[in-house]
Amino acid sequence: MLRIKFSGPVMVALLLVQAVFLLLLYSRQNVLSNTEEKPRKVHLLILSSWRSGSSFIGQVFSQHPDVFYLMEPAWHVWVSMFRSSAHVLHMAVRDLVRSVFMCDMSVFDAYMPRERNISSLFQWPVSRALCSQPMCDRYQHNGITNETICKNLCARQPFSKIQQACEIYSHVVIKEVRFFDMKVLYPLLADPSLNLKIIHLVRDPRAVVRSREQAVKALARDNGIVLNTSGTRVDDSKYKVMQEICRSHVQIYETASFKAPDFLKDRYMLVRYEDVVRNPMREITEMYKFANLKWISRLEKFIFNITHGEGPRKKDQAFKTSSRNAVNVSQAWRTSLAFSKVTSIQEVCKGAMNLLGYQLVNSAAEQMDLSQEVVLPRRRYQFSWTGE
Ligand SMILES: *[C@@H]1O[C@H](CO)[C@@H](O)[C@H](O)[C@H]1NC(C)=O
Ligand SMILES: *[C@@H]1O[C@H](CO)[C@@H](O)[C@H](O)[C@H]1NC(C)=O
Ligand SMILES: *[C@@H]1O[C@H](CO)[C@@H](O)[C@H](O)[C@H]1NC(C)=O
Ligand SMILES: *[C@@H]1O[C@H](CO)[C@@H](O)[C@H](O)[C@H]1NC(C)=O
Ligand SMILES: *[C@@H]1O[C@H](CO)[C@@H](O)[C@H](O)[C@H]1NC(C)=O
Repeated sequence: MLRIKFSGPVMVALLLVQAVFLLLLYSRQNVLSNTEEKPRKVHLLILSSWRSGSSFIGQVFSQHPDVFYLMEPAWHVWVSMFRSSAHVLHMAVRDLVRSVFMCDMSVFDAYMPRERNISSLFQWPVSRALCSQPMCDRYQHNGITNETICKNLCARQPFSKIQQACEIYSHVVIKEVRFFDMKVLYPLLADPSLNLKIIHLVRDPRAVVRSREQAVKALARDNGIVLNTSGTRVDDSKYKVMQEICRSHVQIYETASFKAPDFLKDRYMLVRYEDVVRNPMREITEMYKFANLKWISRLEKFIFNITHGEGPRKKDQAFKTSSRNAVNVSQAWRTSLAFSKVTSIQEVCKGAMNLLGYQLVNSAAEQMDLSQEVVLPRRRYQFSWTGE
């Protein structure tokens, strides 16, 4: 057997030469791929929970002319398999979201009748892309669309057109409330055919409960799936669902902030609903920047309208984004929710509240005293990245 002996310095020199060679090779490849690549399509997931302002944030993206938006497509998964649990359905939800990001709408075959048009799709009229050209001639491609008008005039468009419409956009944005664990999304984050970014939208749990109380019936089936009741509808009077929602916010935020694998770097952004209603322009500008969307001045008036309107919401419109004074609405729980309820919610959610900057109140007087701020000032959240 041939034995070659190298002295220490020679060995070091050889290793150095090899390292330099590899570096050159690597940077050359990078240069090549950078120059040849066209701008990558962005896949944005607005990860939130029921009644947390996500329809509003969804509209902020949906009305942008570069965005193809769908609201809660995984609703179809949950409705079809309502006897299952959120945990078991995670994988089907994830696969559906992945397909929609790729504009592959055949994934809905499993959840819809064969004969269908766009009106089969949950909440389709909130999507500007489905209400405007080339999908529907009622609105120009870059117009601001109105849900009510669109619903009446665009419902008969063939379902197959959705895929073609999706393909022309540089951004596909999906709002979902059915993920309770960041790890479920790892395969999508690591998937080279996707360019996934996540906006994690949270809201003060006390305000969420107040809002949930106005939609008890509408939420009962989803509650059963969260609590794994084998299809039995339940209300959430014991705040078990809220507890699960708060637990998931902690898990998602902590995973992304303190234990993040490399593929999450620059792909996660936490947004508090209260910060958005207090300073919409600043927050929306930052979200657009995160999503690589350019600012469009035409949207400014629209955003002002949906944050500054007046008048109470009608009961049957519990799921609509209406224009009311958003700052007032975000404080409404303080005067309308019983202190005993506030105490129970704080009990199950205090971990999440501490983490996200929502201060606990210790008495009814403190709760009612609107001069006392309970939403701590926004801080830009520090990230520490682990992994190689
Ligand atoms: C298509 O949409 C219209 C309007 O919503 C509806 O009345 C009709 O039944 C739908 N057709 C099919 C084949 O689903
Ligand atoms: C949408 O149109 C309907 C019907 O014309 C109208 O009542 C409603 O105020 C409009 N909504 C918005 C947000 O402009
Ligand atoms: C959900 O409930 C079913 C039947 O009650 C049980 O077999 C299953 O283990 C539960 N799943 C979870 C994730 O708790
Ligand atoms: C904003 O609201 C005003 C008054 O209701 C309305 O006339 C205008 O069309 C709205 N603008 C947008 C962009 O929604
Ligand atoms: C907002 O709340 C304040 C104090 O509760 C009240 O005086 C004001 O009229 C409210 N504004 C709107 C637009 O509802």
